[in-house]
Amino acid sequence: MLGAPARPQRRRAWRPSPAPPPGRSAGVRGDHPLRPRPTAARASVAAIPGAPDERPPGVTTPRDRGIVAAMQPSRRSAAVPPSVTFAIDNRVTELRSQGADVVGLGAGQPDFLTPPEAIEAARAFIAEGRVLYTPAAGLPALREAAAAHLSRICEVPYEASQLVVTNGAKEGLSLAFTAVCDPGDEVVLPQPSWVSYVPMAEVVGLKVVHAPTDADNGFKLTAEGLEAACSERTRAVLLNSPSNPTGSVHTPAELAELAEVIVARDLTLISDEIYWCYVFEGRHVSPASLPGMAERTVVINGLSKSHAMTGWRIGFLAAPAPVAAAIASIKSHTSSNIAAPSQHAALAALAAGSAHTEHMAAAFRRRRDLAVAALDAMPGVELVPPQGAFYVFPRVDALYGGSIGGSIELCQQLLDQELLAAVPGAAFGEDRCIRLSIAAADEQISEGLARMARCLGQLTEQVG
Ligand SMILES: Cc1ncc(COP(=O)(O)O)c(C=O)c1O
Repeated sequence: MLGAPARPQRRRAWRPSPAPPPGRSAGVRGDHPLRPRPTAARASVAAIPGAPDERPPGVTTPRDRGIVAAMQPSRRSAAVPPSVTFAIDNRVTELRSQGADVVGLGAGQPDFLTPPEAIEAARAFIAEGRVLYTPAAGLPALREAAAAHLSRICEVPYEASQLVVTNGAKEGLSLAFTAVCDPGDEVVLPQPSWVSYVPMAEVVGLKVVHAPTDADNGFKLTAEGLEAACSERTRAVLLNSPSNPTGSVHTPAELAELAEVIVARDLTLISDEIYWCYVFEGRHVSPASLPGMAERTVVINGLSKSHAMTGWRIGFLAAPAPVAAAIASIKSHTSSNIAAPSQHAALAALAAGSAHTEHMAAAFRRRRDLAVAALDAMPGVELVPPQGAFYVFPRVDALYGGSIGGSIELCQQLLDQELLAAVPGAAFGEDRCIRLSIAAADEQISEGLARMARCLGQLTEQVG
């Protein structure tokens, strides 16, 4: 490679390559375990007319090296669907740029501003002009502050060495799957659940096993449901309480029952607590605080939802120290640290106290009541009132029929006809429902639900 520095001399003797699997010859691209395996897309190159099926070992063509226009994504990356919520946000932006008066109840982000202390800290840091790498796991001071923050929220005494600052909760989740599971392991996921869990688990080779939940039980995973979903291959369980999209919040007693199964089966819990601060009745209880659970739980959190800082990409992950160290190590080779200005903003946001979050929590509680009252008054709509987070997830399938085959068509109609953005329940694994975000101004919520009522009223007439 041109310009590459000379590699230091290796002391150890080269070991022979492992024996190739039957049917493959050593030396052909893709045979070595550390190289990418041939995928369907690569295999299909051989099917192009004129491509030789068999070549002597070690002989490659530009096509093998991917230097052709026909290059295709790998099988596992091609299997990842684009995020529906991002697609809807993009469509809303496009419609608004054309002057349309869209009511956006699709996006899952607070409609509040970043705390001013965070903005000022980032501004001051940037002005110094030394925006450099930080340790991959985050600035030591931020890991300390985040450890104190999560210790308070989870009632678990975390140390800085157990904390990794991630690129939003999303990266934390993805790293947690990689760090606690091996390819082929099974992960239990309550259904319905947030859109990204399945793709992020599958892309690292895990098998997702859905544990259906019941609206009559407030969409909560039960110990029996968890048991039924487990097999010999189950390695981890994902729990998201408060939940996106259902707003369900597990009680301490329900968590204790789940914890019993998790401990008995020696599983790992990945606990996504990103909505911890929006619990409408009672208070947030982290499953990590239950007996025997801190040592088998990876807690996922961050400032996106609690501090209206989605674009800053600040996530926190807390795990037993060896797992946190493994995650920091992976991060040091993949994404490195999150943007240094965001880390300084995070420090300031944490130091500023909880008034900003409490203000948003009060607004979401009021809006929840507003939305529940409006949806309760809509014929054909059934709602399990959310106990937390900032979404409502009404069941609307009584209105399906005719041109509306399911939640995707319904959301399409709401957007095209009423300029109301909502997210199809199908994206969360529950086609009978749609998700509306209440992270919008009260007037927008009222207007959006009035538009929905109008559209559903017309559908009721059609369905008869
Ligand atoms: C349940 C859940 N977990 C994680 C995330 C990702 O959060 P972040 O923006 O911090 O990556 C979201 C975002 O919508 C979410 O709803």
